[in-house]
Amino acid sequence: MLHKMTRGALIVFEGCDRCGKTTQCKKLVDALNRDGGKAEFMRFPERSTAIGQTISGYLEKKSELEDHAVHLLFSANRWELVPKMLRLLNSGTTLIVDRYAYSGVAFTGAKPGFDLQWCKQPDVGLPKPDQVLYLTLSPEEASKRAAFGTERYENTEFQERVAKNFEILKEHDWKIVNAGKSIEDLHGEIKSIVTQTVESSKDKPILKLWSNPSEYPNKKRPLEEVTNEEGENVPV
Ligand SMILES: Nc1ncnc2c1ncn2[C@@H]1O[C@H](COP(=O)(O)OP(=O)(O)OP(=O)(O)O)[C@@H](O)[C@H]1O
Ligand SMILES: [Mg+2]
Repeated sequence: MLHKMTRGALIVFEGCDRCGKTTQCKKLVDALNRDGGKAEFMRFPERSTAIGQTISGYLEKKSELEDHAVHLLFSANRWELVPKMLRLLNSGTTLIVDRYAYSGVAFTGAKPGFDLQWCKQPDVGLPKPDQVLYLTLSPEEASKRAAFGTERYENTEFQERVAKNFEILKEHDWKIVNAGKSIEDLHGEIKSIVTQTVESSKDKPILKLWSNPSEYPNKKRPLEEVTNEEGENVPV
């Protein structure tokens, strides 16, 4: 009997520095594969590409780039991976992604003079995650973990502004996970959420990020400014 090929789920981890995203992503990929599923790890920025290497040099403070320009490079780095992401998802592989467009917006939006709506535009239409796991950790608990590195953005003041932006970007279907637990406890909680998402996403289409007005239920988006010739609000 022929079985219809089902797609993998797009799972995104977001949260401030050192909350345990990479640790949890890797454990999750291993666990899903052990359980007989197909899962792959991805991270953004993906530093291996030409664009990624430019970003990496900037983060390592080896080069300077204009803030708008680097924002667009971070977005381009996600877009250049989209064909691979769609190919894997459509072939049944679940993608566990360490940071995505929300980080892109939260970080640039933490710089002076940047508007979150402007920051979101380049990422409009990216594959929309089936589940965002937002890991939260108090600054006190974060400071007990490994120290900040030396890369750009790795300081408390900037990270606090990033955290505020995540609160604004947060959507009703995000899972907010208190990351102040042991690695194993956190893994158990995350695995149970993701197992359900993998199951429920199988027959659903892959949606586009920030492309549907119903995704802006918190009225932070000035929909009334977008009108057609009759002066009616229109979805964009
Ligand atoms: N639940 C946990 N409890 C205690 N320490 C942890 C926990 N999870 C991860 N760590 C440790 O905290 C540090 C940061 O973890 P990790 O690199 O996974 O965070 P991250 O969110 O990926 O950080 P970044 O945003 O900087 O990439 C590591 O030294 C890791 O071993
Ligand atoms: Mg990490």
